[in-house]
Amino acid sequence: MINVLKSYNKLSSTIADIIESQIKEQTISKLALPTGDTPLGMYEELVSRKLDWKSVITFNLDVYLMNIDHPQSYQSYMRKNLFDRTNIYPDYCHYPFRPTEAFEDKIKGYPGNKGIDLCILGIGTNGHIAFNEPGSSFKSRTRVVDLSEQTIKDNSRFFDSIDDVPKQAITMGLGTIMESKLIVLMTNGEHKLNILNIAMNGEVTETVPASILQNHDNVEVYYCD
Ligand code: PGA
Repeated sequence: MINVLKSYNKLSSTIADIIESQIKEQTISKLALPTGDTPLGMYEELVSRKLDWKSVITFNLDVYLMNIDHPQSYQSYMRKNLFDRTNIYPDYCHYPFRPTEAFEDKIKGYPGNKGIDLCILGIGTNGHIAFNEPGSSFKSRTRVVDLSEQTIKDNSRFFDSIDDVPKQAITMGLGTIMESKLIVLMTNGEHKLNILNIAMNGEVTETVPASILQNHDNVEVYYCD
């Protein structure tokens, strides 16, 4: 079911509430975190709540293959919007890396659940989750991927020119994401409504990566226009 919220502020505070409960109620929390425009308000809200992040371990969903100090790298994004503004331990902030099997081992290596406790996702206009582009195997694990033309076009707004958009990324796989205990999908904007409906109510198919979420028994979906 898609929960429709009345404003972007409400979307941001609702997802921040879910993260806050996770952090406060569990001794250790393994979070999978997104980047992009949609979660910016949520990160702002989380920072303003001055939570204790000392027992939080984060795994970003994906990273571009690019210089990590570039202002548009996801490492820069996370430092700017969350990590540098909380008391999280830098050693507990993980990004997909090669060898990708070692990244998967890193997730499993912490005490508690084998997988992620709480995974926050966005959805791309082509139905991708993380950088699992259409056609990705439902069994996929963390790996290097080529970005689709649609994603490169969508993300060109963050760069001076479309030629500057990285063409490859490392992404958590759909299989990796599906091992999360709770998955929360956040979507903002009418331009995402069509793909969200297809993903949540249409056929479960690798052509629409987000449709795999219909097979998970603990998914919450939030939308605002
Ligand atoms: P956006 O990206 O929040 O910038 O729209 C979402 C995504 O592509 O997963």
